[in-house]
Amino acid sequence: MTHSSLLRSDETLFRDPEVFEFTYLPGEIHHRDAQVRELAWLLRPALRGGSAGSAVLRGPPGTGKTTTVRRIFREIREETKRIVPVYVNCRHDRTPLAVYRSIFKQIFGYAPPPTGRHLDGVKEGIAARLHGEDAALVVCLDDANYLIAAGTSNLLLYQILRLYEKWDVKKPGVFAVAGDLALNLYAEADASVRSVFHPLEVFFPPYDRGEIREILTDRIKQGLYPGVMPASLLDRIAGIAAGEQDVRVGIDLVRAAVLRAEKDGRRRVTAGDVTVAARTVVAPVLRTRAAELSPGERALLSRIAERSREGGDMMSGAVFEAARDYFPIGKTTYHEHLTGLSKAGIIDLVPGTGRGRGRAIRLRYDPEDVAAACSFPDKSGSLIP
Ligand SMILES: Nc1ncnc2c1ncn2[C@@H]1O[C@H](COP(=O)(O)OP(=O)(O)O)[C@@H](O)[C@H]1O
Ligand SMILES: [Mg+2]
Repeated sequence: MTHSSLLRSDETLFRDPEVFEFTYLPGEIHHRDAQVRELAWLLRPALRGGSAGSAVLRGPPGTGKTTTVRRIFREIREETKRIVPVYVNCRHDRTPLAVYRSIFKQIFGYAPPPTGRHLDGVKEGIAARLHGEDAALVVCLDDANYLIAAGTSNLLLYQILRLYEKWDVKKPGVFAVAGDLALNLYAEADASVRSVFHPLEVFFPPYDRGEIREILTDRIKQGLYPGVMPASLLDRIAGIAAGEQDVRVGIDLVRAAVLRAEKDGRRRVTAGDVTVAARTVVAPVLRTRAAELSPGERALLSRIAERSREGGDMMSGAVFEAARDYFPIGKTTYHEHLTGLSKAGIIDLVPGTGRGRGRAIRLRYDPEDVAAACSFPDKSGSLIP
């Protein structure tokens, strides 16, 4: 090839920039066959003219819950009229009226009149349409934990699931997505809801490094021109995203690194691009994690970062001795703090390779970034309400 290695100002490295938007629906969903099967199984009775079952989709952020549901719903819309799938984003719509208006809009293709319509009117419109088409409603309440916070989850589940009683339609199915694992939607349900809500639990585990790599490879093929992202750097990005347990971090890193190369007029991403991109993409995550530490954990982390920056011995015992020069800390507390830091995803405790049985402390982040995150703990969580 004879083209210059420099990019002209009117050239781009993105074949399709939309591929890196968070609203993008990938053509193929990897590693979610089991979850797709379970959800499809719940929908099957409705395909034969019966009612759909319900599910609670659980899993940490970035595990493909939203993508999987949107994908299934799209297929249903293309293939059958017997099921009417409706997607509700509970971050935006939390009150019964807002949720029903959103359902109405998706079924009819236009919003219900803004004035003069109360909840019952909107519901009636929905039910009449379902009745007329002899179709089963399936509602996805995405990020349903917001309903719990708003105190509307019970009322909504109850109203949706019992829609059929008053209006003579098929019993709707509800796919409730719970991104926050600490919240158990079913445990929050009161007795009246439990009598009608019998969800199947569908779990979405975090992707491992290899899975993330595959998802990113696919995305890169769709969204970038060939040769822009070297394989070794893709490996590194997949490793970072796996460490954060969030494939989204990987997608953001690819985009940010490529943008940087493009800005410099290069045709290929360099290791430096990834390093800089990692700072901007990962730093907020690190700051949030550091902000949630106890003051004792943070003080220790700060020492660990300092020592790592100086290139000191990172064996757990040596770090303990050194830390004691700075503040009084007992062995038990020290080990508790280490466990805390490891659980927070900031350090890894690696079994030592030498003859001793001690563990080595390995920072998951750049020591400079860790030190910075420790010194400004208050600014950290500001993005998170
Ligand atoms: N199995 C997958 N195959 C392809 N892309 C995926 C897959 N899982 C997640 N993604 C992508 O990762 C990002 C986060 O997925 P999302 O479905 O929003 O996660 P969640 O709803 O669990 O937080 C999205 O950009 C999505 O396109
Ligand atoms: Mg989601």
